[in-house]
Amino acid sequence: MAKLITIEKTDLADGNFQDRYCKQLEAGNILYLPFLPFNFSEDDLQFLLAQRQTGAKNRKNIAYKPKTNTITNAVELNEENSRRLLGIMQRYSQSVSQFLSELLEPYASKWRLDYASFRPFQEKGRQLRVRARNDLLHVDSFPTRPMNGNRIMRFFTNINPTESRFWITSDPLEVLAARFGGKEVPFPKNHSLLRSLAALGQKVGLPITPRSPYDVFMLNLHNFLKENQDFQATCNKDYWEFPPMSCWIVFTDQVSHAATAGQYALEQTILVPPSALVNPETAPISVIENLKQKMVVET
Ligand SMILES: [Fe+2]
Repeated sequence: MAKLITIEKTDLADGNFQDRYCKQLEAGNILYLPFLPFNFSEDDLQFLLAQRQTGAKNRKNIAYKPKTNTITNAVELNEENSRRLLGIMQRYSQSVSQFLSELLEPYASKWRLDYASFRPFQEKGRQLRVRARNDLLHVDSFPTRPMNGNRIMRFFTNINPTESRFWITSDPLEVLAARFGGKEVPFPKNHSLLRSLAALGQKVGLPITPRSPYDVFMLNLHNFLKENQDFQATCNKDYWEFPPMSCWIVFTDQVSHAATAGQYALEQTILVPPSALVNPETAPISVIENLKQKMVVET
């Protein structure tokens, strides 16, 4: 089960972290900062808190793509406010990236900055499809973006000035894959979890995003967990409260989690290749490979 590793301001003072915090993350723990480790102006905060997304179909979070410096899913914004939102998200993304490149220095030369998001909705009672719900325990897997074994690391900030954000976590990927893998959630048949259908798909001109067997397994596990009412009701649980203006960092492909309540959060996703890890054997792709091989040997 995940532990909370608190990083105080005084811990940041010497700046020489080496792989201290990487190891904690890779062990399936949550790095928690009870403060915001970079500037975020009161004006920007008030602007975000005023966004209602009332016309949003399916109530989607607002996404920021650093690569193209664009925003998607924002509704009902005039040109000036669109530009304002873009600027805020860009600054947040850059601030997180800069902070983490020092805190998690061993990853920084190899990681890829993925999307950032602004989450203006109240998570409690949010009406979403079962597989899209945030309040059911799951490990992250993106239906439209294959990871091919890369890790999903996420930096969250609760920007609600008065209300906490509440999470539940349960057993890590290692335990869940051992419990359900090869049974309710079949292991991929291919010898290698990374053998990709990309070449085949491109040959015949299919307009699909190729998914590796690893991605198929992870998405199946994600869906299975959310749809399994018995698991949701009976599994081990830890309860967490993240107060206003606090931040936390998690490998969300490893730590099973659910956001049960809270409104107004920012988040930056960073993709970390297994080769950048301090302990690569903790990567889900290695964990699943080992379980699969063990099962083949035992049967
Ligand atoms: Fe998630």
